[in-house]
Amino acid sequence: MKNQIKIESRIRPFNNQIEVSSDKSLSIRCILLSSIAAGKSKIFNLLESEDVINSLKALKKIGVNYIRKKDHIEIHGVGINGFNLKNKTVINAGNSGTLARCIIGLCSATNKKIKLIGDNSLSKRDFSRVIKPLNMFGVKIKSKKNLLPLEIYGSNLLRPINYKEDKGSAQVKTCIILSAINTPGVTKIKALHSRNHTELLLKYLNYPIKIKRKNLYDIIEIEGLNQFNSFEYKVPGDISSASFFIILTLLSKNSELLIKNINLNPSRIGILKILKKMNANIKILNKKNYRGELIGNIKIKSTKNFKSINCPSSLNSSAIDEFLLIFLVAAKSKGISKFKNLDELNKKESPRLNIAIDFLRMIGVKIKRVKNDITIFGNPKLDPGGKYHIKKFLKDHRVFMMSVIAALTLNGKFTINDKDSIKTSFPNFLKILISIGAKIN
Ligand code: S3P
Repeated sequence: MKNQIKIESRIRPFNNQIEVSSDKSLSIRCILLSSIAAGKSKIFNLLESEDVINSLKALKKIGVNYIRKKDHIEIHGVGINGFNLKNKTVINAGNSGTLARCIIGLCSATNKKIKLIGDNSLSKRDFSRVIKPLNMFGVKIKSKKNLLPLEIYGSNLLRPINYKEDKGSAQVKTCIILSAINTPGVTKIKALHSRNHTELLLKYLNYPIKIKRKNLYDIIEIEGLNQFNSFEYKVPGDISSASFFIILTLLSKNSELLIKNINLNPSRIGILKILKKMNANIKILNKKNYRGELIGNIKIKSTKNFKSINCPSSLNSSAIDEFLLIFLVAAKSKGISKFKNLDELNKKESPRLNIAIDFLRMIGVKIKRVKNDITIFGNPKLDPGGKYHIKKFLKDHRVFMMSVIAALTLNGKFTINDKDSIKTSFPNFLKILISIGAKIN
């Protein structure tokens, strides 16, 4: 089958230096914010993936032009409230929850009807989390059971809100921030910690946004309708994409890898903190600050004696896209690992908690689940052997890539469907693996 791959052997020891694809969250945020900047922004190193291409297509739909130049993309910002769109504009967010949720906030002040649609996976995801705060701003949204397609009726009479975001969702927080920019007055958000790229970008742009960091929450105040200038930005590598290679190296024998130019924003490196606690041999080198974001290189060496972990749920949000990989390490570690309150994991491109449990049980790992808490009984000698076919995962890119890493580090013959899912976030994933010696048919 064309869209299927086979892996029948572990990767041989390797010692390489790589770069991975650009950060998806930052790429989408640069596109959205440059659309309302005054003038032409230049974005270098933009991720070339389907989620990002759909974000650019969405700009065209709302009357924002862009030009692809040799080494960057130039986005012609129209200023706050400057969108020019036809009534009944249809925006297709494809697979991207980030685009879908954030674009509604961005367009909250347009008084034309917008229809928001998405692919099969996105159409199963709940939008009540953004519909609720947007309704409070004065945006009307019609849907069946809070699922796509949504019909959105923005308003030029928005009012600022006070909102408590308690899911730790950066998509919801960004949606509210973007809507607040369209709204006169000061919007206040009490937001459980989550990735803060939008806030850092706005700070860099000198936008009036105040952030007070409290123990669990950030208190954010944004003053609406302050026009900001166009900007230049060079998007660094994505820690979520790097994570597949981090785990590959840790679980392979006698191997070393240097991954260069990765975004190491503290709100994204839960995986590194968790792996360190589990004894992983990882070092951060050449740290520097770029426009408020921390960037550096990651050096990884094979690790033999992984310790189990009782994972603090305060790290859940900063590792949310990496749990599938962390579970693989827990399965190979000595002792019993516990992870709690993982309900958000089931609300991703696929129900990832359910899928991870099925996957690990299939390869012989013992797991106990109580609601959204799991216990993994680790086994350093885990050697599944046998033949496996990974097929029912709603084409979730991260499930596909985790399965590939499992196949390359465990003993067994794996057939994995839906190779094209990598186009969502990491189109070069298989190419880079092959360049460091993986045998993939
Ligand atoms: C993202 C936020 C996270 C993450 C997703 C990207 C973002 O989702 O899982 O891959 O760019 O804001 P939630 O906001 O639903 O936690």
